[in-house]
Amino acid sequence: MYPKSKILIIAGSDSSGGAGIQADIKTVTSLGSYAMTAITAITVQNTLGVKSVISISPDQIKNQIIYSAMDIKPDAIKIGMLHSTEIITKVVESLKRIKIKKVILDPVMVAKGGAKLIDDKAIQTLKMKLIKQVSLITPNIPEAEVLTGIKIKSVKDMTLAAYQLIDLGANNVLIKGGHLKSKQVEDVFLNKSSFRVFKNLRYNTKNTHGTGCTLSSAITTFFSCGKSINKACDLGIKYVNSAILTNPKYGKGHGPINHLNSIKIDKKFR
Ligand SMILES: Nc1ncnc2c1ncn2[C@@H]1O[C@H](COP(=O)(O)OP(=O)(O)OP(=O)(O)O)[C@@H](O)[C@H]1O
Ligand SMILES: [Mg+2]
Repeated sequence: MYPKSKILIIAGSDSSGGAGIQADIKTVTSLGSYAMTAITAITVQNTLGVKSVISISPDQIKNQIIYSAMDIKPDAIKIGMLHSTEIITKVVESLKRIKIKKVILDPVMVAKGGAKLIDDKAIQTLKMKLIKQVSLITPNIPEAEVLTGIKIKSVKDMTLAAYQLIDLGANNVLIKGGHLKSKQVEDVFLNKSSFRVFKNLRYNTKNTHGTGCTLSSAITTFFSCGKSINKACDLGIKYVNSAILTNPKYGKGHGPINHLNSIKIDKKFR
């Protein structure tokens, strides 16, 4: 096949391959598009946890964005972890320069274990400067709690938080329900004209490493190919659900999901 669209991914590297830039590239590729990257940090990690992180300088991040985009113009951008005010400010400046309309922000702030990954100043900058600039924001429950100050225990609380994010200037919001304990997994979508709860089977597995990165990249890919933002969320959630169900059970901790679930290798290479 021929690539359907071009995506620029701004995110951190996960050496274990299950989340971060690695998950993003696999997702974009498996869904038939071309991936470019601007790496924000390099983590040393495996499925058991993160050992260390080094940051890439804000200017080097800005240059990766501008230099790649001025040559191959992306149809859409996916933003993952931005861990400091300086980096967020440079990314906002870069976005203004390259003028790409379709931008999806996964506001990574809290690690699977509950540890805050970015400081309070960076959270404020993200709220004030970045949320309004992007097409969609996809916080998980702890991130939606940090952004809104609302304690979330149910879909009703998720909905309240989504309304608050729209009031803050977000164009579209998808609050992910992976962290609740409900029987079904429910993700809440909201914009000024529509509200939708995506309901899916919740799988009883510890292998959900990288579900958030994968989902935001899948949504970006479908959106870049011309689907509406609502439909792109629907299809992205289906891709992640199937990737969790068919996870390859790698590693001793929280293992990766199966990014290849969309691919049927044809007869060409037999
Ligand atoms: N056990 C599960 N079974 C089915 N779907 C799930 C499960 N856990 C998460 N999901 C789905 O995966 C997607 C990502 O949600 P999640 O809440 O895990 O994001 P996240 O916390 O940002 O992930 P990450 O830990 O990778 O940052 C959502 O569509 C959610 O419904
Ligand atoms: Mg996440």
